[in-house]
Amino acid sequence: MARLLHIDSSPRGDRSHSRRLTGEFVDAWKQAHPTDIVTYRDVGQNPVPHVTEHWIAAAFTPPEQHTSQLQEAIRLSDLLVDEFLAADIYVIGVPMYNFSVPSTFKAYIDQIVRIGRTVAFEPNDSANVYKPLVLGKKMFIIEARGDSGFQPGGRYEKMNHHDPYLVTIFGFMGITDITFIHVENDEYGGQKLADAIATARTKIAQLVGR
Ligand SMILES: Cc1cc2nc3c(=O)[nH]c(=O)nc-3n(C[C@H](O)[C@H](O)[C@H](O)COP(=O)(O)O)c2cc1C
Repeated sequence: MARLLHIDSSPRGDRSHSRRLTGEFVDAWKQAHPTDIVTYRDVGQNPVPHVTEHWIAAAFTPPEQHTSQLQEAIRLSDLLVDEFLAADIYVIGVPMYNFSVPSTFKAYIDQIVRIGRTVAFEPNDSANVYKPLVLGKKMFIIEARGDSGFQPGGRYEKMNHHDPYLVTIFGFMGITDITFIHVENDEYGGQKLADAIATARTKIAQLVGR
């Protein structure tokens, strides 16, 4: 029995390709692994707040010294980190927005990258100041894009701050087993989009069946 955390970050509902495909992925996963437990978080339609001055003070103050104000400021972050750490597998839908992730997803990242919880900070170990604490996990990222050509060697490779950013930030926390599923060409529609969706569905079937 594994725990799967399913996260969507598109603000769109039925029209979202990433949301539809994470849903299909998780449905297929549940059929293949009926005893697995799925938790769902939607940061696209129910965004988490940005960090605040009190949040920062709380994150860098030992919990036993927290005032009630600091406790309150960090409460949701604690909950999100607990939820994140409890999972063995992640299935995350993330659109490309302006060559990076939507700001709602960045706000979620800012809530879960926490010193002492997901990353250790050891300033005296100059060879390895930051030590990842989220180990042994598996991640599937379904990324929707309006265009195509963002892959290595593609015409927009240098503008792709999406996949490299996600590899960096999740790797920083210790998650290195990441598989991307891309669904491209939303802006073109028609056959180009239909082909991209079919390709993504084939990859999902292969990954879940494995
Ligand atoms: C604010 C905004 C910015 C976008 N920026 C990009 C972009 O930089 N590159 C791209 O290929 N598509 C871009 N798109 C198109 C989306 O990536 C595309 O519509 C995708 O399908 C959205 O994901 P969803 O279908 O899950 O909602 C953008 C769309 C919006 C609304």
